[in-house]
This record gives sequence, structure tokens and C-alpha cells, in this order.
Amino acid sequence: MSYVSPYEAMFSGAMGKEYQMLFLVCPVAAKMSQLVAQTVADYTLTNAGKIKVVELGGGTGITTHAILSATTHTVVISIDNEPTMQAQAKHNLHQWVENGRLVFSSDDALTALQRLDSASVEVIASAYTLHNFTDTYRAQVISEIFRVLKSGGLFVNGDRYALDDVSAHTLAIQTEVTGYFKVFIEQKRLDLLEQWIVHLFSDESENHLMRESFSLQQLAQAGFTQINLSQREEVNALVTAVKP
Ligand SMILES: C[S@@+](CC[C@H](N)C(=O)[O-])C[C@H]1O[C@@H](n2cnc3c(N)ncnc32)[C@H](O)[C@@H]1O
Repeated sequence: MSYVSPYEAMFSGAMGKEYQMLFLVCPVAAKMSQLVAQTVADYTLTNAGKIKVVELGGGTGITTHAILSATTHTVVISIDNEPTMQAQAKHNLHQWVENGRLVFSSDDALTALQRLDSASVEVIASAYTLHNFTDTYRAQVISEIFRVLKSGGLFVNGDRYALDDVSAHTLAIQTEVTGYFKVFIEQKRLDLLEQWIVHLFSDESENHLMRESFSLQQLAQAGFTQINLSQREEVNALVTAVKP
């Protein structure tokens, strides 16, 4: 039997094709994209000249578009290794490519980072991508992010950060699952309900979960300073960190 990673089973099928359902299932995700973009925009205010932004897991381009729209002097390299998702971003954002503000990479995040020079990028931004990584892969990605950022460079991630209080976290996930049933039954999309629940099992598995304290300590151990978690809404939060 061939091995199918939980990640491959998620964004290539119906869920990837109908990713916009996210806004019904998880309205806070749209807010998180805007917060990531606003954080990048605030950073650009204090930094003159062209700013290189590497986006990990650009998906269909929701956060990419938010970053491009919120800023004037950024060039975004949007990385995503799932063609079903990136094809939609390429379709939605072709104007930004033509204007020289956006470049796509179909490498996986770690490979793409490994191909970048040390201290060559001002911002590494992401939304709802790192939680899909296994813990070992994510650890390598974090140290690569640190290597690739310039001194003073910013890492910003709007994502699922598990609550340290395990009981409170379980309750938040139970509420989330209840919401999935409500939305997908109303939409008569039991196929998507199945996929989102399968996906959630992957998100919540021990080798994927990004527990808040551990994640912030991991950034500190990698060398980051000014580490901050804010804007928490249930299991969603915004994390920022700066390379000294
Ligand atoms: C939940 S979506 C988020 C998309 C987008 N950031 C947004 O804000 O809507 C996660 C994305 O990460 C991508 N992804 C997951 N693992 C990846 C990896 N190892 N390398 C590159 N992209 C990855 C998936 O293909 C998917 O498009």
C-alpha cells in the first residue's frame, strides 16, 4: 500500500477546489489574513526601498492578495507545493505577476527556503500553513526562516496555535466541529464535511499540533526576539518575531 501523507490528502481534492468555504467554516481566517497583511504593511512603513516578502503556503492567494493590497513597495514570493491551490492563486492574481510584484514557487516550503541566500529577505509571512507541517519538518522550516531573514527581519504567522490549557483547547475544537456540521449540512455538502473532519484529525494529531508555549519557545531557541502572540480567537492567533 502506498503511503499518502495527511497533507497530500487535504488540499488536492474537493477541499482544495472549494477552499473559499473556509470563510463560512472559519470566518476568523479572513480576519487573520488581514492581520498578517497589516503587520507586513506596518513593517514596510519603517523600512525604505523594495521589501522582499516570502509567503509560505500561499494557497489560493487570499493572504497574498491582502499583503499586496496593503503594501506598495513589496515583492512577494508565494510558495505552495499543491498545484490545485496554487493554480487558483495564479488565476486570481495574474495582474500582480504582470506588474512585477508577485512571483510563484511550486517548491515545498523547506526546499524553497533552503534555496534562498542567508540574510536575503526582509519578511517571511504565512497564514494557516505551518500547522499543516509535521513537527520535525516545521522545526527545520523555523531554523531556515531565521537563516534567510535579514537582521531586523520579521516573521509573521496567523495560524492555529493550540491553547496550553488542554481542556479549553478540546472545548474549542468541539465547538469548531459543531460549526462544521451546521455549515456543511446547510450547504448540503456532506462530501466537504467529511474532508474537513478528516483534515481536522490531521491538524489535531500529536505530530502536527502547534501548542502555544512550545511554539514560542521554539522561536526563541531559533534565535528570534520580540516574540509575541496576539489576536487570539479560540485556536487562532497571530505570532510575530524579529531576527535580531
Ligand atoms: C490552509 S491553506 C492556507 C492558504 C493561504 N495561506 C491562506 O491564507 O488562505 C495551507 C496551504 O499550505 C500549503 N502547504 C502545506 N504544506 C506545504 C509545504 N510543505 N510547502 C508548501 N506549501 C504547503 C497547502 O498546499 C495549502 O495551500
